[in-house]
Amino acid sequence: MSMPVLSVDNLNAWYGAAHILFDVSLTIGRGEVVALMGRNGAGKSTTLKAIMGLIERRSGAVRFEGNDISRLAAYRVARLGLGYVPEDRRIFTDLTVTENLDVGRQPPRAWTDGTPAPLWTEERLFSLFPNLGAMPDRPGGQMSGGEQQMLTVARTLMGNPLLVLLDEPSEGVAPVIVEQMANTIVALKEEGMSILLSEQNIHFAEAVCDRAYVLEKGHIRWQGEMQALLADTQTQRALLTI
Ligand SMILES: Nc1ncnc2c1ncn2[C@@H]1O[C@H](COP(=O)(O)OP(=O)(O)O)[C@@H](O)[C@H]1O
Ligand SMILES: [Mg+2]
Repeated sequence: MSMPVLSVDNLNAWYGAAHILFDVSLTIGRGEVVALMGRNGAGKSTTLKAIMGLIERRSGAVRFEGNDISRLAAYRVARLGLGYVPEDRRIFTDLTVTENLDVGRQPPRAWTDGTPAPLWTEERLFSLFPNLGAMPDRPGGQMSGGEQQMLTVARTLMGNPLLVLLDEPSEGVAPVIVEQMANTIVALKEEGMSILLSEQNIHFAEAVCDRAYVLEKGHIRWQGEMQALLADTQTQRALLTI
């Protein structure tokens, strides 16, 4: 594998005095879709936030496309091409679908070796998310939760990211949207996009991910190929199923 797009070494994070992440290390290669799994409260969202620079107290090394981002503010990390879709959808409810997408627009990007990254336009996003394409003038506040979820992902893509941190895209949305979300992730992978996906649902992860890391109480307890995790019912029982 060439140089990872993202490498995290011994990441620790705290909320106030509460130590939440303990020496979390992971890597993501170019074009890889990697699952970050674990039960509720295991530290998935905190890991994504800490990578993004959204946690005040953290330690460890985070490298993204050759840059040390471990001390950068979140807006600067985003400008380097690291996209983030938080678990709570943050669309602008007063703005239409098209206007929401405009807010996310950033310049085209290239990898450090000069290869251009996928360039997203509204037109391409509407073909990736046909139900958004059918409602370009709908205000965000009048969309279903699943549609808002898709709009959040689409808006992040408008920034032409090299890597996207996706926090539980399948959570709390209707099964039909879950399936569309899985198809979307597969399509993004085909575009050469790298994705770190936080997920509790092994069936969703199975459909879209190459490798997985499993967190428990802020520690990485398992890592390996998705296929190996699927075959390992003991690990699933210990770390994933309720
Ligand atoms: N803002 C916060 N302040 C204090 N503790 C938090 C905060 N957010 C999450 N936690 C705690 O951190 C731990 C990890 O949470 P989180 O990263 O949200 O887990 P996951 O995304 O895997 O469900 C949990 O024990 C949770 O209660
Ligand atoms: Mg979470």
